[in-house]
Parts: sequence; C-alpha cells; structure tokens
Amino acid sequence: IRYESAQFLISAAKLSQCPPETGYEVAFAGRSNAGKSSAINTLTHNKKLARTSKTPGRTQLLNFFDLGNSRFLVDLPGYGYAKVPAHMKIQWQKHMEEYLSERQSLRGLVLVMDCRHPLQNFDIMMLEWATESDMPLHIIMTKSDKLKKGPASKQLLMVKKELQQYGENVTVQLFSSLKRDGLTILKNTLNSWLAE
Ligand code: GTP
Ligand code: MG
Repeated sequence: IRYESAQFLISAAKLSQCPPETGYEVAFAGRSNAGKSSAINTLTHNKKLARTSKTPGRTQLLNFFDLGNSRFLVDLPGYGYAKVPAHMKIQWQKHMEEYLSERQSLRGLVLVMDCRHPLQNFDIMMLEWATESDMPLHIIMTKSDKLKKGPASKQLLMVKKELQQYGENVTVQLFSSLKRDGLTILKNTLNSWLAE
C-alpha cells in the first residue's frame, strides 16, 4: 500500500454520509489532541493532509483519505474536548457508536494515546468495545519524543501488562510523529489489515 499517495476524499458528519462500504478502511481514534491527525500525516508523508492543531477539537468530522485500490484511512473526531457543549458530545457519541458498530468496511482501529497519559477512560472503553466486537486494535503511544528512552519503555511495559487481559487482537507500540519513530511497525500492522 502506497501511503504517500493518500488523498483527501470526503468529510462525513455521520454514517449515512460515509463513502460506500465497498473497500477496506482503518480508523484512527483517540482523545482530543492525542495526535491522530499528526499520525496520519506522518504515515502518509504529507504534513498538510489531515488538519492538526494545538487546540483540541480540531477534527470534528469523520475524514476519509483514499489510498487507492479501495483502501481508506479515517481520521475520527477526538473524544473529550471539554469546550464542546453537552448536546454535541451526545451527538458525537451517537455518531461514533453508529460508525463503529455498523461500518462493514472497517478492518481495524488505531487507538492513539499520548504516551505520557495512557489508558484513560475513553481508551478503556474503546478497548472493551474492540474486544467484544472482535475488531483488531493497535495502540500507538505517541509523542514518545517527549519522554527519554527509559521512561518511554517503562510506559510501554506498563501498558503491555494492562493489555494482557484483552487478548491477542490488541497490540501496542511507541510512536512519534515528530521524529517519525515507530513508522515501520505501524505500516506493517496496517498492511496486514488492509491486505485481501
Ligand atoms: P483532535 O483533532 O482535536 O482530536 O486532535 P488530534 O488527535 O488529531 O491531534 P493533532 O494531530 O492535531 O495533534 C495535537 C497536537 O499535538 C499538535 O500540536 C501536534 O503538533 C502535537 N503532536 C502530535 N503528535 C506529536 C508527536 O509525536 N510529538 C510531539 N512532540 N507533538 C505531537
Ligand atoms: Mg485531529
């Protein structure tokens, strides 16, 4: 799969606006500001593909990126943006649940967590959902450039231990969009999900 050739396809506010479910896709989920859009840009070698921001809540829609050959990446809106009004949070949850539970072409989830603040409530919810629905889930503990090597590996080990209870469908790695660390592992995981 040539991630570098990714192109923006469409933004959808809800499932009914998503492209037809003909191909395979991988969605990037995680808390607001965790680094989902940055990870997509790193993966595709395209700094301008997915909009990133210092302000949490940048990505409000499901953004689809076309990899060719009916393969897609999906940038999901971040969870937990405090300034979003309650009624919008409820809408967000409804649309996310609908997408996750009904999307036939969804092949796997990349759960993006800041390596300094792993396994928050939202992350646990996603883990439990993925396990129950047999959806492969790969965690990237991103912003690893913010920690020294020792503390970073310690965080990884701690998370790995916590993940044992979720079984073999859940994997985890350190990642840095800034340093492009962990890119090969991420690509290999996505390749295996998006292959025929
Ligand atoms: P929402 O769209 O609001 O849900 O956020 P997001 O998860 O898409 O986060 P985004 O990619 O916009 O990144 C948020 C902030 O973190 C930006 O200021 C990025 O530059 C920064 N950031 C993302 N990844 C990394 C990383 O690996 N290292 C460092 N140092 N900063 C990062
Ligand atoms: Mg984003």
